[in-house]
Amino acid sequence: MIRDRIPLTLRRGAVPWDQQRPTWPDARPALIEAALERAEHRPSGNWYVLGAASGITADRPFGRTVAGVEVVAWRDAAGRLVAGPGACPHLGAPLKDAVVRCGTLRCHWHGLALNGAATAGWSPLPAHDDGVLAWVRLDAVGGEEPLDRPVLPARPAAGAAVTAVFTATGRCEPRDVVANRLDPWHGAWFHPYSFVDLTVEEPGDEDSFAVRVSFKVAGRMVVPVRAVFSAPEPRTVVMHITDGEGRGSAVETHATPLGPDDRGQPRTAVVEAVIATSARPGFAAARAAAPLLRPLMRAAAGRLWRDDLAYAERRWWLRSTGRFPG
Ligand code: FES
Ligand SMILES: [Fe+2]
Repeated sequence: MIRDRIPLTLRRGAVPWDQQRPTWPDARPALIEAALERAEHRPSGNWYVLGAASGITADRPFGRTVAGVEVVAWRDAAGRLVAGPGACPHLGAPLKDAVVRCGTLRCHWHGLALNGAATAGWSPLPAHDDGVLAWVRLDAVGGEEPLDRPVLPARPAAGAAVTAVFTATGRCEPRDVVANRLDPWHGAWFHPYSFVDLTVEEPGDEDSFAVRVSFKVAGRMVVPVRAVFSAPEPRTVVMHITDGEGRGSAVETHATPLGPDDRGQPRTAVVEAVIATSARPGFAAARAAAPLLRPLMRAAAGRLWRDDLAYAERRWWLRSTGRFPG
């Protein structure tokens, strides 16, 4: 039936943007700050997201600076993720510019070969591919008790999901990104092109925020859902769709500190993984169209993230200049 395939609702009695209920009395700064504090006290095991797992290939090295530490990653001959220091142990060449052939990375300055095993003063770092994201463990940076694996939120089964990973960078710290995501009240005010009719439920448990909201598709067509936000570890906020179209889907926002820029200001990468699933028959077709769907999902996230990064950057600026606590 065609209606089964189109998960849209026609919005009735639409309230204009400036006549919706202000959310600021509910979005208490102390509430958001307390949720952020609790997130920051959860263990991460010193794991940091590098980027999309699919972005690290056997063709070329992937380079990223995490909290000021240069990291290089690639796939070994068996396709396994390898990560390690990004400066060549010989004379310091940037290994992100090296060449990978048959799983072996070869430094382009003097030809030192790395196959993922410790050699010539270079040692791999613990790395983890969770099927969507690639992670590296930096014990000296995190300073926590190391964990064997990163702390991952619940996800839909890989075979039943369409995934897209979006990365953006901002001048802020991870806590500013997390604070933005722990403020669900801004959704329909700040992103009216994406969200309407947003209400935050009374917090049942203090570690999650449940929201009823409609995703705007076009005109009055919306997809109403219930979503729950939580922070399983200090640099991750996940939104689970618990009701409505896409139930079981997850949107994970991961913040990775990159280190200071040349003006000494912090840079943070936001790596957002959309892991979408649906019980609708139309979703099988959507999965087949996944290569088409991914850029669209990324574009939607891109628009939201331009605004959310502006929020996070503003928050950092207010904090760093002492104009605002946090
Ligand atoms: S700097 Fe890499 S081999 Fe010399
Ligand atoms: Fe937002």
